[in-house]
Amino acid sequence: MMEVENLAEYRSLLRERSKAPLYHKIKHACMRQPAERRIIAAVLVCLSIGVTFIALKKSFIDSRSTEPILHTDEETLWHYNTSEEREVFLRLWNNANETLLPMIGSYGEQENGKYDQRSELFAHCELILETVKRSLKQCVSLQILPNKCKKLLLMKMKCTKDGIRYRNWDGSCNNLQHSDWGMTGDNFNRWLKATYTDDVSTPRQSVYGGELPPVRYLSNLLFSHKTLPDSDATMLFTHFGLFLDHDIVQVGQTKGNYSSCCKKNPNHRHPSCLRIDISEDDPLYGPLNVTCKGFLRSPPFTGTCPGRREQQNRMTSYIDASDMYGPSHEEGKKLRVRKKGNYFSCILLFISLLPLMSI
Ligand SMILES: *[C@@H]1O[C@H](CO)[C@@H](O)[C@H](O)[C@H]1NC(C)=O
Ligand SMILES: *[C@@H]1O[C@H](CO)[C@@H](O)[C@H](O)[C@H]1NC(C)=O
Ligand SMILES: *[C@@H]1O[C@H](CO)[C@@H](O)[C@H](O)[C@H]1NC(C)=O
Ligand SMILES: *[C@@H]1O[C@H](CO)[C@@H](O)[C@H](O)[C@H]1NC(C)=O
Repeated sequence: MMEVENLAEYRSLLRERSKAPLYHKIKHACMRQPAERRIIAAVLVCLSIGVTFIALKKSFIDSRSTEPILHTDEETLWHYNTSEEREVFLRLWNNANETLLPMIGSYGEQENGKYDQRSELFAHCELILETVKRSLKQCVSLQILPNKCKKLLLMKMKCTKDGIRYRNWDGSCNNLQHSDWGMTGDNFNRWLKATYTDDVSTPRQSVYGGELPPVRYLSNLLFSHKTLPDSDATMLFTHFGLFLDHDIVQVGQTKGNYSSCCKKNPNHRHPSCLRIDISEDDPLYGPLNVTCKGFLRSPPFTGTCPGRREQQNRMTSYIDASDMYGPSHEEGKKLRVRKKGNYFSCILLFISLLPLMSI
């Protein structure tokens, strides 16, 4: 670089340069300083190492993936148009129904401990549909289900423009174009598509094929049991957060005995079972000799690909205090005293609290 003694000289030099023909300008730009060249070379080397690494990793993953995660085409729904297809479908349906029939009475939803026949049939239809999808490897059109299930799974809310001035109690008809958006009982929306291993309902596997690390191992590894005080938030933060959460989200609970999930024989397990295996060196459960914890999955629900499991929201997705007033008209009615506009409450030491028992 040229030495420049004062500002005036520097300016005149700049003017001269800007007048230089295009050829010189380009030549000047290409003749970079040695330090710059070294940086550019280093960047290029890093880039090529990165690209090679990514390519190697991808080929490694590809070579290790024994069973790729299946994906069916969302758009292709199985309609049984021909009589042969119809027969295949009905045979699969009836076989699945027969296999699942002995379980009926055990996989509906827990409704305050009461037996709920409708949710039982709903879960039964959904589980048959899942079994059929597993065989067909296609999304099944709900139009072709036997009547009992078709009616139940296809039920839609209708809004009449002049009849409904306000949205319904269950959040339906808040959006007149999409009357069921956000209503109680709709399925959760996904940002990413579900990646069940069998494309129906089994938990996803590792991209290398095989199982993911045990959840208990991850939870012990990632979560500390230390208390970390936070001076920015008060207790209200926790309670209000939980209250808000319960206003917009609640997942149904499957009825049944989750202890059965740890039984050795899979036929003795509840159809909604999942299990958490616990290793001997688990800091909490190891000394207690607990090697397995079972739980029941939330009831199955239909999404855009019928037969592939989705999860259902039991609350309206709107912030509307549905955790106080009830997520539906029926449940809301049960909470009312029907006197002076009051709701049931529990008086404890002259303070009126929310009822302690389910109503
Ligand atoms: C089968 O029936 C469905 C609905 O009735 C229709 O959309 C589809 O195009 C039909 N498929 C064939 C192959 O005919
Ligand atoms: C399952 O089979 C039983 C007995 O054959 C029948 O009554 C019932 O309607 C079937 N359920 C469904 C959902 O197809
Ligand atoms: C649930 O199953 C476990 C083991 O299978 C059994 O010990 C327990 O009594 C059952 N509980 C109920 C409420 O049936
Ligand atoms: C766990 O098993 C060991 C060896 O069988 C036994 O000594 C210990 O008492 C058991 N602990 C509990 C909490 O049952």
